[in-house]
Amino acid sequence: MSTTAHAAPSIPGYTLGTPTVPRSPLSMEELALLQKTVLFTEEDVKYLRLSGEVLAGQEEAVLDVWYGFVASHPHLVYYFGRKADGQPDGEYLAAVRKRFARWIQDTAAANYDQAWLDYQYEIGRRHHRTAKNRTDGAPSVDNISYRYLPAFIYPITATLKPFLAKKGHGAEEVEKMHQAWLKSVILQVTLWSQPYILDGDF
Ligand code: HEM
Repeated sequence: MSTTAHAAPSIPGYTLGTPTVPRSPLSMEELALLQKTVLFTEEDVKYLRLSGEVLAGQEEAVLDVWYGFVASHPHLVYYFGRKADGQPDGEYLAAVRKRFARWIQDTAAANYDQAWLDYQYEIGRRHHRTAKNRTDGAPSVDNISYRYLPAFIYPITATLKPFLAKKGHGAEEVEKMHQAWLKSVILQVTLWSQPYILDGDF
């Protein structure tokens, strides 16, 4: 049973906590060591929970900014493009956006259990050629070039900060929520990297 998933209207292709998700090659002990390495503590869990309250209802506004960033950069929107004519695939963009909104809530609510760890591996596979396009049957390019995954951590987290400040919290609390997000996204993108890395090297 997943402790991460809430009861939610079903989102096509969102499979956290279901048996279709393959087991992460990483153990829970190795996850704990990675958390220590990024200085992720219980305090970060507390501030992520608070961010969940702050971001509730703001998901679409956040996604407008993130999708706007991707849409305004041809080298990024390319990865949502159709192989046939290179044009962005609207259905693919819309399907992924629903799971992205859910990911905002999941990042705030994460319990770092086996189901969560397994889904990180799955999200990595969905960016990599092992499983990109498969979830939505998208007619898009086969692989997201790895270099953009870590680079994307900066715009994702920097643009989130104003939204963390929108519900009247003080500068110190906003900063703590922001740092917790930064650590969590670094942790997640590190886990998502595994399919890109030669066996034995991760
Ligand atoms: C910090 C880095 C990134 C974050 C936090 C992020 C987040 C996400 C999330 C939450 C999903 C949906 C996962 C699910 O299926 O449940 C997703 C899918 C996707 N992302 Fe990213 N992403 C990042 C980097 C990138 C970059 C650099 C691109 C290139 C434009 C990209 C393009 C895509 C595409 C095309 C999908 C759909 C994959 C599929 O076919 O299933 N992502 N991303």
